Amino acid sequence: MSTQNKLLNQAVSLLKAGALIGLPTETVYGLAGCTLNESALEKIFALKQRPKDHPLIVHISQHEPLSNWASDLPSYTDALIKAFWPGPLTLVLKKNPHISSLVTAGQDTVAIRSPAHPLCQQLLEALGTAVCAPSANRFGQLSPTSAKHVRDIFGDELFVLEGGPCEVGIESTILNLSSGTPQILRPGMISAEAIASVIERPVIPYQSDSNNVPVVPGSAKAHYAPSKPLSVVSRDEFVVLCTSQPNKQFAWLCQKDHALSKENVTNIIMPTTAAAYASELYQTLHQLEHQTEIDILAAEKPNDTAEWQGIVDRLSRASN
Ligand code: TXA
Ligand code: MG
Repeated sequence: MSTQNKLLNQAVSLLKAGALIGLPTETVYGLAGCTLNESALEKIFALKQRPKDHPLIVHISQHEPLSNWASDLPSYTDALIKAFWPGPLTLVLKKNPHISSLVTAGQDTVAIRSPAHPLCQQLLEALGTAVCAPSANRFGQLSPTSAKHVRDIFGDELFVLEGGPCEVGIESTILNLSSGTPQILRPGMISAEAIASVIERPVIPYQSDSNNVPVVPGSAKAHYAPSKPLSVVSRDEFVVLCTSQPNKQFAWLCQKDHALSKENVTNIIMPTTAAAYASELYQTLHQLEHQTEIDILAAEKPNDTAEWQGIVDRLSRASN
């Protein structure tokens, strides 16, 4: 048996026994436990130090029918699944009665996605049921995009399935299909425009300051905070900022032609495309958290176009 298969079997056994594992997905690593095992769900909240009013996402195999977990599926649900699953899109739907209220925080809806990471799909297939997996970070901290990030947070007691660096790099888009017009509850790398063109009807875009129900508790400000202060500014604003604090060392996440040659500035050249930028963002922030010589982080404000919306959202949360 290959090492990979041995590790996969070990992960399946642990989940079946009610333990948690670190799970690679294409977005960020998850802290996974069996959806149907209440004590595993309890462990997720305890280990993450996550309040119980923050519902979990159910992760299913691409071969499992959605109707096992959700009802009242709108007619265009199939088109969405065909276009975007497996992939970084989470659907909020009316829940089936057997789902624990720990998963849904007592709401009558459930969030479900089928991740694109091949190892995650293999695991779900071998397990034969769904797992709940919030991002594998402590509540309020930066999400992990490598197995090492997860081990740094939870130590050696947690088994982490090694799946390499996460390709997408920020959390899935969350789309509410449980009431009326579909609505983006959390922006990600699948945009409202892309969804609208598939379902051929309007989609309510993400509204950062709305108090709409259903709530996405993860949208509490400062949810993705790195441990060092982060500002999101234009290059001109950054010049003022780093000049006014000459005794502080800055990391400047910028586009190549906006680098700044200054004694107290380390330039971090970021990718020009949204997909590549997202893929590197958390990894870069994790690294900078560990660099003791850096005091303050500053990121150049990206375009406010649709494809950058998920990135703008994560940067603005991290900067709180
Ligand atoms: O990319 C992702 O979605 C990652 C990977 C691991 O799959 N998971 C993730 O999980 O980001 P978490 O727990 O960090 O964020 C889950 C989000 C929260 O904002 C939560 O409020 C929302 O999903 N959510 C879960 N169930 C919901 C529901 N029934 N209605 C509205 N929002 C819900
Ligand atoms: Mg999270």
